[in-house]
Amino acid sequence: MKVQILENKTAIGEAVAALLCDAIREKPDCVLGLATGATPVPTYDALAAAYQAGKVSFRRVRSFNLDEYCDLPKTHKNSFYSFMQVQLFSRVDMDPANVGFLDGNADPAAESARYTAAIEAAGGIDVQLLGIGRNGHIAFNEPADAFSQESFRVALTESTIAANSCYFDDVPMPRFAITMGVGLILRAKRLILIATGESKAAAVKAMLEGPVTPQCPASALQTHPDVLVFLDPAAASLLKQ
Ligand code: GLP
Repeated sequence: MKVQILENKTAIGEAVAALLCDAIREKPDCVLGLATGATPVPTYDALAAAYQAGKVSFRRVRSFNLDEYCDLPKTHKNSFYSFMQVQLFSRVDMDPANVGFLDGNADPAAESARYTAAIEAAGGIDVQLLGIGRNGHIAFNEPADAFSQESFRVALTESTIAANSCYFDDVPMPRFAITMGVGLILRAKRLILIATGESKAAAVKAMLEGPVTPQCPASALQTHPDVLVFLDPAAASLLKQ
């Protein structure tokens, strides 16, 4: 895993957006794996700016998002689908037909099979963007006894609920989500993980310097040949080197 420490989240957003723009220019119909959360917002801001400046077009780009809440309408303002509309899709020329999303209200087994098949039909994910949870989760793969493979319905942990409840003001935060499994995420050709802020420092240390264990789902990235990790100094503060 290659690690780059940049001065702040804005610099990281610009660096990651530049890499994604290069990938799109090289392959205009490339397949992006996209993430939600506060961490990728500067990247989405920089992508929107690049589009508005005429530097890149998303017209043929295809995307698959990592996860979605269960038991929440897709159109609710706190769904990950709505998040992506606001943060990226409505700001660029992305074709809605090219946007792939897990349906948190569908039968999980059928939805999982549909999503894996859709990703395979698209030729696989070229670049997967990832954040990391404070407990080392990626997407909504919480610490567990074994690494998950395909997409599945997951009960969120108290740590994740505590970290994300602040976004829910009109309805309680859902307790379940549907998420791409670790095995499916690792099938992406290239992975870019971003972590910013002190609250991620312990998870970052476990991911990079700890053993590969499903108790830290992000540690599975150690087994992938092409991973780039972007950190700010606070997220990198517990690393040995
Ligand atoms: C959620 C998302 C993850 C994200 C994590 C961290 O749990 N499912 O994909 O990486 O939160 O979020 P944040 O970037 O807001 O810290």
